[in-house]
Amino acid sequence: MFISFEGIDFCGKTTQIELLKRYLENKGRKVYIVREPGGTVISERIREILLNKKHLEMCDETEIFLFSGARAQLVREAIRPWLSEGNVVIADRFFDSTTAYQGYGRGIDLDSVKKIHQIATGGTVPDITFYLKISMAESIKRQELRKTDLDRIERSNDNFYERVISGYEQLALDNNERIVTINGSRSPEVIHEEIIEKLNEKMILSS
Ligand SMILES: Nc1ncnc2c1ncn2[C@@H]1O[C@H](COP(=O)(O)OP(=O)(O)O)[C@@H](O)[C@H]1O
Ligand SMILES: [Mg+2]
Repeated sequence: MFISFEGIDFCGKTTQIELLKRYLENKGRKVYIVREPGGTVISERIREILLNKKHLEMCDETEIFLFSGARAQLVREAIRPWLSEGNVVIADRFFDSTTAYQGYGRGIDLDSVKKIHQIATGGTVPDITFYLKISMAESIKRQELRKTDLDRIERSNDNFYERVISGYEQLALDNNERIVTINGSRSPEVIHEEIIEKLNEKMILSS
């Protein structure tokens, strides 16, 4: 079982992943969480380059290849071996993030983005993806509550984020057999319940 979580920053991915991990572990499943970019020694090194606040000159093309390079390593070194042993893998962002941010957000040609995904993942696709949908205003509200220091991507302007949000909307429409849109502006507990419900509906939990 391979599950991914998507959505803009502060939409609640990490919160929901922790709740789901606990739920599945209580059911006796072994659960691995992977965080993108990262999750292997090489991918974490790439993560440092991507998230370094000094790297403001990084061009969009470099950005997509670095994310995809980190993902290629993660798929082969971690995700596939874990899945083949029958474990649950939960990804905190996967290739849909690259489509939304580098494709729709940065404007890299979407057909090229798809081809890059094919090379990076080699066909390893989540069984189900939860898109936690919140507005830009809600994201900013949560961000202000946390007063975090923003990285290069988080500092992109509001138009960029609006494009990312519409990108996620389009992705959800184009992949409705895989991507489940969840209203992320409700309480964490209510969202968690809905996620469990959707997993049961798709009978992913019984496999
Ligand atoms: N459903 C929710 N309603 C309100 N605040 C939330 C909700 N889920 C998470 N948060 C808060 O919003 C912030 C971002 O949540 P987090 O799970 O880290 O999001 P992400 O991993 O998507 O960036 C955290 O401070 C978290 O406590
Ligand atoms: Mg997070």
